[in-house]
Amino acid sequence: MKIFSFINQKGGVGKTTSVVTLGSGFALRGYKTLLMDCDPQGHIATQLGIHKAPGLRRWYYDEEPLEQVMMTVRDNLYVVPGDKTTDRVLGRMREEQWGTAEFADRLREESTGLEMDVVLLDLAPSLNHLQIAAMLASDYVIIPTRLRYTDLDGVNEITRSISETARRSRMPGRFYLLPTFFDRVTRETHQRLVELVTAFGRQVLPPIPQDVKLAEAPGRGMTIWEYAPQCAAVQGYINGNGKTIGGYAAILDELIALIEGA
Ligand SMILES: Nc1ncnc2c1ncn2[C@@H]1O[C@H](COP(=O)(O)OP(=O)(O)OP(=O)(O)O)[C@@H](O)[C@H]1O
Ligand SMILES: [Mg+2]
Repeated sequence: MKIFSFINQKGGVGKTTSVVTLGSGFALRGYKTLLMDCDPQGHIATQLGIHKAPGLRRWYYDEEPLEQVMMTVRDNLYVVPGDKTTDRVLGRMREEQWGTAEFADRLREESTGLEMDVVLLDLAPSLNHLQIAAMLASDYVIIPTRLRYTDLDGVNEITRSISETARRSRMPGRFYLLPTFFDRVTRETHQRLVELVTAFGRQVLPPIPQDVKLAEAPGRGMTIWEYAPQCAAVQGYINGNGKTIGGYAAILDELIALIEGA
């Protein structure tokens, strides 16, 4: 069982989209997959066309078993939905010194008990106790980031926080950057991608193209694999040398190679 969390304190960078797309991708490939919404906005539900619900609050705050609060949304795909009561989880974590560690331990134990293969956590755009709890629980942290100058500034803050958390715990501290909203025609995004790779090397995953299809799919209650499996966001873009680069299908392949090889 492997746990991934998707963290960036910047809003609207593609965290939820990546969780829903990669999670449903894992499920399609036969992996028993759990998506956990740790954001009071409850956007996993919105993206999958289901109702927001106090799943995270019931699990963590009311201490109900995971099995009781999760919903089946597709073959192999389960969701612990969120809503604004997730704020109460955060409140308790602030009060209790070991709240974050307890979150991590319980999640690992219960997901293993349910024979999950992968768990993906969607986080709110901030860097507080829930993000730390998610880091502690994770085998891998994925940092989706847009490729503008102002976006890259925040990346250093998160990677520092991951390193600090790793130093104080048994968390492996492995992280990957996932460039999103990649626009192959603008110089700006190319330049920023080069900067990211210079700074972080192989920890930078191939980019996800900017693609309106990703914004359209949720309105139809569909994942992108159901709505537009041939679109650029899934299949990548073709560069000047005729090579296909990036896209969620390629990222999914890389993550599967990562967990199978680990
Ligand atoms: N590669 C992309 N191309 C075009 N639109 C995208 C792309 N990725 C995500 N979007 C759209 O951008 C919006 C924000 O994406 P998303 O909700 O995944 O970001 P987020 O990081 O989870 O935001 P928040 O910080 O508020 O939780 C959504 O409408 C989504 O459909
Ligand atoms: Mg989100």
